[in-house]
Amino acid sequence: MRIMSVVGARPQFVKLAPIDHAFRATGIDHIIVHTGQHYDPLLSDVFFDDLKISAPDVHLGVGSGSHGVQTGAILAGLDPVLEEYAPDWVLAYGDTNSTVAAALAASKLHIKVAHLEAGLRSFNRRMPEEINRILTDHASDLLLAPTEVAAAHLATEGLAQRTHIVGDVMTDVLMATAASSIENGDDPIRTTHGYDAGTYFLATIHRPDNTDDRIRLEAIIDSLSALKHPVILLAHPRLRAKATELDVSLTQPGIHLCDPLPYPQLVAAALHARGVITDSGGLQKEAFLLGVPTTTVRPETEWVETLEQGWNVLVEPGPELIQAALRQVPDTEPKQVYGDGKAAHHIAQLFLRFASHL
Ligand code: UD1
Repeated sequence: MRIMSVVGARPQFVKLAPIDHAFRATGIDHIIVHTGQHYDPLLSDVFFDDLKISAPDVHLGVGSGSHGVQTGAILAGLDPVLEEYAPDWVLAYGDTNSTVAAALAASKLHIKVAHLEAGLRSFNRRMPEEINRILTDHASDLLLAPTEVAAAHLATEGLAQRTHIVGDVMTDVLMATAASSIENGDDPIRTTHGYDAGTYFLATIHRPDNTDDRIRLEAIIDSLSALKHPVILLAHPRLRAKATELDVSLTQPGIHLCDPLPYPQLVAAALHARGVITDSGGLQKEAFLLGVPTTTVRPETEWVETLEQGWNVLVEPGPELIQAALRQVPDTEPKQVYGDGKAAHHIAQLFLRFASHL
């Protein structure tokens, strides 16, 4: 059986790692297509190296652009690749422009599509990711839902028959990475900045709703600067670009502006943080799984399970953000609702079962 993974953005490389390992272990012929949506080495190459992912078979090199330009370039680039490799399945990951383009290109060529991380909903249609998720789910033949909540959303949309709950692949890779980080005693923020565990915040901000409005971006940066502890701000290229364009200074007192971290270091940095402040879907869930309180600068989250017991709190910039970030650590353990750490193995088995019906 031949399965083609189409990936292009940072969080997709993390999800690809356990899938690549599980597919190869079960003898599935795995073809990897990198769309080139993310091209900076710190957003792309380091993930392939650190997480020991096989090198992509094809690189489309589409680069940045408006949503239409980027999505269109991926669509056009995929047609000949799908024809050449003729996979039995195309696997689309998450909710980026690479995801929706992969699902559309394959379904138009009558190639079966599976969607990993199906059924997540923020119910905020201003987010490009929400549109990408909905369209991808409806174009897909197999919906790999990470949670019961995601499966329930799919059932509401009439997609229950194509749905399988498999758990969350990011949990697979996080558990393995955190275990080796603890074993090795990794503490990258202490090494680079001298801050002990529990004395700093780790922050990332990259959503267009937060970065593309000067007043909101300024309010977020001011809030980070007002926290009593140092803030390590890992800057996505979009944040740097927008801050320059909107004339917002990211180097306020208390804020250490840094490049994005390679995945193992990110996990170790989050593990030792007093708290995480983010608008990233992946990082809010990773922090939750690591038992680190998270403050999410968004009006809603698709990972609603993280909100239970106060491990994750949704805030607006300003006093709400500051108060939430400085809250006490909840006294209950985060519930293990994201699978058993073997989601990729379950997905591989599911595909092999499907193979007998082909
Ligand atoms: C994309 C995803 C988002 C995901 C995020 C993870 C969509 C619609 N959004 O957002 O869901 O959470 O990836 O990081 O697909 N840039 C670079 N170098 C790069 C990549 C981007 O400098 O390697 C800059 C460019 O100025 C580009 C901007 O960042 O225009 C935005 O990149 P893009 O891939 O369009 O979206 P992300 O914000 O990264």
